[in-house]
Amino acid sequence: MTASETAGSTTATDAEESLPVVELDNVEIVYDRHFLAVQGISMAAERGDIVALLGPNGAGKSTVLKMISGIGRSERGEVTRGSVFYNGDDVTNSGPNEMVDRGVTHILEGRRVFEDLTVEENLRCGLYRGGRRFRFDKEDYQIAFDYFPQLEEILNLKAGYASGGQQQMLVVARALIHRPELLLLDEPSLGLAPKLVQDIFETLVEINREEDITMIIADQNAKRTLEIADYGYVMENGQIELNDPADVLAEREEIKEFYLGTSGDTSRYEDIRHYKIRKRWT
Ligand SMILES: Nc1ncnc2c1ncn2[C@@H]1O[C@H](COP(=O)(O)OP(=O)(O)OP(=O)(O)O)[C@@H](O)[C@H]1O
Ligand SMILES: [Mg+2]
Repeated sequence: MTASETAGSTTATDAEESLPVVELDNVEIVYDRHFLAVQGISMAAERGDIVALLGPNGAGKSTVLKMISGIGRSERGEVTRGSVFYNGDDVTNSGPNEMVDRGVTHILEGRRVFEDLTVEENLRCGLYRGGRRFRFDKEDYQIAFDYFPQLEEILNLKAGYASGGQQQMLVVARALIHRPELLLLDEPSLGLAPKLVQDIFETLVEINREEDITMIIADQNAKRTLEIADYGYVMENGQIELNDPADVLAEREEIKEFYLGTSGDTSRYEDIRHYKIRKRWT
């Protein structure tokens, strides 16, 4: 049977294009064979979307990203139930090399630059893939300067001396050079001034639209992240508590009051249940 037959009247190409880039089906993630970090979550990133993955400390956001990119395998993480699909292929428990080859780039939490290398040398590192140098022209990293022109002015600065904002630009720019299909960003706003967060998030939207890069952004800054996202998931204790289109999610009372801190009513039971979360999250 051909793909078009299985998809009814749609063509094979249509069917492929309508597949989510990544999909988790009832995924359970265990560290060190016994620590249950994620308990049966289902989520998807549709092609071209920005997906927000929100939740308090320890909810499991980074774990989810790490098991999509395969990096979690090197931290003794394992999907012990359910499946992860990438463009329809089962990639459950695949390693990081395979996922990079498939087009996934993961920007880890904490702005990991090579501090003793210059900004330019850090960007050049983005030209290596799977141990091979696959391009080496300045033109090839022009894409970095198109979105972050500031970086061109500090090319010879040691990355360790760059500001937090410049380092965040650098790690996004370095990831862009890989031309990923799916970009995973872990806490891009952490520790940055609100204006910088706004600038970087606006640039992420431009990149998403112009380069057609699907993104999942795990962040504790629910307000900002939902502003730029198409769809959002809220995790708590390894489970998904809420999920909706980002604009709908941002309007939900639980989110408004306790994740965004904007509603005045604190008398409801639900509010009390979520109070601790807000305390930990702000
Ligand atoms: N490498 C690891 N080995 C064992 N347990 C881990 C590991 N990484 C995370 N965990 C545990 O898994 C749970 C989920 O952690 P995770 O880092 O995914 O949460 P998070 O939502 O990203 O939190 P944060 O907002 O603090 O970054 C936590 O209980 C954490 O202690
Ligand atoms: Mg995390």
